[in-house]
Amino acid sequence: MIETLPVIIWLLILATPKANALAGEPSLYNEADNVINADTDTLLPYLRTTPNGKLVQFLNIFCGHCRRFAPIFKAVARELYKWKRVLSIYAVDCAQARNVEVCRDFQILQTPTLRYFPPAFSGGGIGINIPTLSPTKIIDLLAGHLAKDINTSLLRFEPLTPDNNVNTTLADHKGPGHTEEYIALVLQPKGSNIGRDTILELLPYPAVAVRIVDDSRIFSNLGLAPHDQKLAIMDLAGNIHALKTVQESSQAYAAGIAEYLAQMGRTPLPPLSTTRAPHISRIRYKEKQQILSTVLRNPHMIYKADVEQAIDILLHIELPKAGLIEGNNLTALRNIISVLRHHNPLNKEGKLLLTGIHDSLITQKRLTGGEFADLVKSKEKELEEDVFKAKRFVGCTASRPFLRGFTCSLWTLFHYLTVAAAKPPNYLAAGSVLSAMHGFAKHFFGCTDCAQHFLAMAARRHIESVTDHDSEILWLWEAHNEVNNRLAGDTTEDPMFPKIQFPRKKDCPSCKNEKWNQSEVLKYLKNIYDTQNLSDYGYNEL
Ligand SMILES: Cc1cc2nc3c(=O)[nH]c(=O)nc-3n(C[C@H](O)[C@H](O)[C@H](O)COP(=O)(O)OP(=O)(O)OC[C@H]3O[C@@H](n4cnc5c(N)ncnc54)[C@H](O)[C@@H]3O)c2cc1C
Ligand SMILES: *[C@@H]1O[C@H](CO)[C@@H](O)[C@H](O)[C@H]1NC(C)=O
Ligand SMILES: *[C@@H]1O[C@H](CO)[C@@H](O)[C@H](O)[C@H]1NC(C)=O
Ligand SMILES: *[C@@H]1O[C@H](CO)[C@@H](O)[C@H](O)[C@H]1NC(C)=O
Ligand SMILES: *[C@@H]1O[C@H](CO)[C@@H](O)[C@H](O)[C@H]1NC(C)=O
Ligand SMILES: *[C@@H]1O[C@H](CO)[C@@H](O)[C@H](O)[C@H]1NC(C)=O
Repeated sequence: MIETLPVIIWLLILATPKANALAGEPSLYNEADNVINADTDTLLPYLRTTPNGKLVQFLNIFCGHCRRFAPIFKAVARELYKWKRVLSIYAVDCAQARNVEVCRDFQILQTPTLRYFPPAFSGGGIGINIPTLSPTKIIDLLAGHLAKDINTSLLRFEPLTPDNNVNTTLADHKGPGHTEEYIALVLQPKGSNIGRDTILELLPYPAVAVRIVDDSRIFSNLGLAPHDQKLAIMDLAGNIHALKTVQESSQAYAAGIAEYLAQMGRTPLPPLSTTRAPHISRIRYKEKQQILSTVLRNPHMIYKADVEQAIDILLHIELPKAGLIEGNNLTALRNIISVLRHHNPLNKEGKLLLTGIHDSLITQKRLTGGEFADLVKSKEKELEEDVFKAKRFVGCTASRPFLRGFTCSLWTLFHYLTVAAAKPPNYLAAGSVLSAMHGFAKHFFGCTDCAQHFLAMAARRHIESVTDHDSEILWLWEAHNEVNNRLAGDTTEDPMFPKIQFPRKKDCPSCKNEKWNQSEVLKYLKNIYDTQNLSDYGYNEL
């Protein structure tokens, strides 16, 4: 799905007007998918005031796993449009700066994370985990929660008790607000959910209320013969008919009831509509195309904008998302800041900023992600000039939405750091950059599957045994090639930037001759990732 997004979608994404906080940002979902985008300002109000059950997906737009899950989640959300009367679906992108707070408050430690919130959610707690990404399991777990949490005059999952007769059964379905003209009765044997699922399946039909019957004697009370006691429909005058179905499944039951309702001229609510008019701006699209063609023409080039974006996102989004930072993860935080303090391509103010953060962390015993965000903010206030001016990716720009970007810039940053650390006078001990990267992946990286793969690879490739600067550069190069190899052909691959064994022969003819020539590769990497050679292209307005 993602890989076939046409240009028009790009235009749509680039162009939505700025007025809405969510507009103008790429988003994996929209209301045409039956998914509402929520953020720090809106999530809690939605959860508190929507009288439905709520399903929320917390994601990171840059996480490949989240992007691969997107078409599955869309299919689930579209399918569950039929539950609109009882279930609302939201998505929160934890990769957006304004959502750092809400993702920290809800303790999102991995993405994608699915949580269910009951209709009566009042703001306490972080919701109930839906611990699966399988569509059928998600739907089944939600059905269980909804059946447990919902008990209104319009929607009852509680079985009818055997002492009911026609009059008492009808009594439940009269009065203000009731839209039903028919009552369907479904026999639900012990251990089965067929009644529950038939209720949910028929939510689009306001003309029918489905009641669960767990004791077939009720059918006798209502006047049905013993061989007709599985599925029946009754009108409000008490006239009852048994319905025959070929199969004992909620779909077959719902289809039988729907067919009866159709004969009576009762129709379902309209299905999810799919059309939305895009706003189009060709200006940013053109600028993007210009960057893209320049980048593709210069495969050797590493761009300052990408390195800076990576540091910006680390300081303002990835690190502040942590809950409590103490012990090992405080050490990890100190290591990242220390590496960045020594080697970064930021302006003078940027170097002051990192030194300031570094010095403040020395005396801290513990802090929260929120306090770290405040620390960064307070240090930035003391500066005379803005540090982070690159507001877009350049070398990490993509030819399609949702690809490349932050993870690409992280690789770029860490390669840059290994090369910088190898230059005299060697401010950092050999291995410091890899150790900082490892700590980041272990404690902070919002891309859960990236982190898990990286940690496994680090153990297998003995990351801790790297003891000189040149080996550090080469370790990361080889590791990155292993990841490229694994992801080649994946749906998250940008066809204009295929996953190759880096560098290509035509970019460095001496690097490979049947086998890699490591000293040539080293020379090449030191060359392209050298701080003197970072390109300013795209850093400012074009
Ligand atoms: C630590 C880490 C682990 C990840 N694990 C996963 C994962 O498990 N699953 C997943 O789906 N995604 C993972 N990702 C994301 C994935 O690796 C890519 O970043 C993403 O798919 C975008 O790819 P890209 O085309 O921009 O190139 P990237 O792989 O991001 O590379 C960025 C740039 O680095 C340069 N480069 C490429 N290879 C090398 C090399 N060997 N040495 C030096 N420079 C090189 C190229 O200029 C390239 O454009 C991970 C990212 C990181 C940082
Ligand atoms: C559900 O609602 C009905 C009618 O208001 C009530 O009699 C019943 O006790 C409720 N069941 C539960 C489990 O709250
Ligand atoms: C049901 O109600 C009708 C009319 O209100 C009454 O005539 C009838 O006797 C009642 N039946 C039972 C079983 O209570
Ligand atoms: C950091 O470590 C502390 C103590 O082990 C733990 O409570 C906390 O959740 C960790 N935070 C992160 C971001 O891993
Ligand atoms: C690698 O390249 C260097 C210089 O180009 C050359 O001297 C050396 O023999 C090569 N090593 C191998 C293993 O091919
Ligand atoms: C920068 O790149 C050029 C050409 O690619 C190279 O000749 C030069 O040595 C590089 N500079 C440094 C400091 O590595």
